[in-house]
Amino acid sequence: MDSKELRSLFLNYFQEKGHKIVASSSLIPDDDTVLFTTAGMQQFAPYLSSQKNVLEKFQTRHLCSCQKCFRTDDIEEIGDDTHQTFFEMLGNWSIGQDQAGYFKEGAIKYALDFLVNKLGLVKDKFHITIFKGNSFIPKDEEAKEIWERHGITHFHEFGEADNFWGPVSNVGPCGPCSEIHYDRGEEYGCKDCGPNCDYCKRFVEIWNLVFMEYFKNEKGEYEKLKQTNIDTGIGFERLLAILNKENSAYETDLFSDLIKEIEKHATLKYKDDKIAYRIIADHLRGSSFLIGENILPSNTERGYILRRLLRRIIRYARIIDLDLNSIDRLIKVIILKYHHIYPELNQENIVNIFNIEKQKFARTLEKGLKEIEKLTEITPRQAFFLYQTFGFPIEMIKEEANKKGIEIDEKGFKEELKKHQEISRKGAEKKFGKNASEKEIKLHTATHLMHQALRDVLGESVQQMGSSINNERLRFDFSYTKKLSQEQIKEIEDIVNQRIKNGFKVIKEEMSLEKALATGALAFFKEKYKEVVNVYTIKNNNEIYSKEICAGPHIKSSENLGTFKILKESSSGANTRRIRAVIN
Ligand code: GLY
Repeated sequence: MDSKELRSLFLNYFQEKGHKIVASSSLIPDDDTVLFTTAGMQQFAPYLSSQKNVLEKFQTRHLCSCQKCFRTDDIEEIGDDTHQTFFEMLGNWSIGQDQAGYFKEGAIKYALDFLVNKLGLVKDKFHITIFKGNSFIPKDEEAKEIWERHGITHFHEFGEADNFWGPVSNVGPCGPCSEIHYDRGEEYGCKDCGPNCDYCKRFVEIWNLVFMEYFKNEKGEYEKLKQTNIDTGIGFERLLAILNKENSAYETDLFSDLIKEIEKHATLKYKDDKIAYRIIADHLRGSSFLIGENILPSNTERGYILRRLLRRIIRYARIIDLDLNSIDRLIKVIILKYHHIYPELNQENIVNIFNIEKQKFARTLEKGLKEIEKLTEITPRQAFFLYQTFGFPIEMIKEEANKKGIEIDEKGFKEELKKHQEISRKGAEKKFGKNASEKEIKLHTATHLMHQALRDVLGESVQQMGSSINNERLRFDFSYTKKLSQEQIKEIEDIVNQRIKNGFKVIKEEMSLEKALATGALAFFKEKYKEVVNVYTIKNNNEIYSKEICAGPHIKSSENLGTFKILKESSSGANTRRIRAVIN
């Protein structure tokens, strides 16, 4: 069975049973306290908790969907049989109850009917998990009794960690659940184990039925909802693999066409390095979908995830000797696989963004790998240096180091990062505030412009290390390894002066830190920020030029800002440069 067929079998089945097919919502959820959509129910959360009226919106209580999802916590695990960043989830819902609504009985009946009678899976291979109860919710005897009546004989009880679902963020609808795990047989693992085994992957969870009757409030208490709901989720990739008797989704049509195309442009074949192939295939698909949401590579939040995926593609392409000039061919395969349901995927757009990032990263990578080659140990300071200077994500440094048998002291690295953030915070706090003079305020805005210009000219490894302003000049320390050339200094001056000449406004917005980071505002000392921060955006009608989280104050527009000039560029400690500049 191929992916297209399974998707439509599922949606058609539930449509025949009176469900309305709802299109997938965006990977960027409405609730912006969470980074990505990770479950089908997110778009229905207000209806599940009866804040909104489901009948008004959908004219029915019964819905089904195939939802785009994205998970970031498993990026390190990609390459094994079971993990992916992007994935799809099939689900059906019964939201609230009246005579037509269904709850546990209906959900269990539909699930078994679909799996056994539509897909031909053998009921005896199903192992069902049952919520064993806790101090405020009793054991789910009711669900067990229904499963038994439907001929299920294998049961396993679990507590909150495994058998209670949600909420997605801190608050929201949630409830105990029953999961259907599929027994692939002894040859896949232990002789006598069950679902959620720590040692093997014999059992695969294929469907989660959530009996959503609770609401977790801001105090962390569980209130009974006014209504009961059914919320279910099938891991689409996993089910497809099982139906095809494959070990992994990477062996199904979702990936096999792409893997074949990669083989055409690489020296090593899939069988030679499955892990590298799977990482590349997963990340190509995942980044295509992120770009489909108009996310751009950056150093924060969603953009950072995209950057990480793109850079890992490039890095693993070297391992299998994949010619990245073939990127358009690879993306085309993804588009062909998905465009009939996800028309937001645009080949040209994806290829363009990939190529820009490739250029940015190529030089950085080359330099960084050479640097690592030379090392026989990597101290936390050196790891931080690689991170700071070459834009190497820590996990990449770890991968490289591990290959050479070098251990990385990650805790030490994090301490080093913190120390640096402390220093830049002190630098940034100095001198700013209500008593700044008009001249100082102007220099402050010029600092933001120059900061962005530095990143444009020298690359995004440039990070603010410290800043000080007085009535005469600005002083700015930043990470960079080499002395700037006269041409580079001139280019930076020109960029800043061009911006001043073009005219811009400085817009101040107050927003949650989470949101500020999600919109790509630059931030260099994250953990010290309050929950609500000020974001200063420098923009004109044509472009947003700079966006930083900052305490201010700033001038309102470029009028009378004057002419920017760099007086001196010098070293200010290891791998740190210092610029003194004025405006006249
Ligand atoms: N909301 C049910 C699931 O994601 O498993």
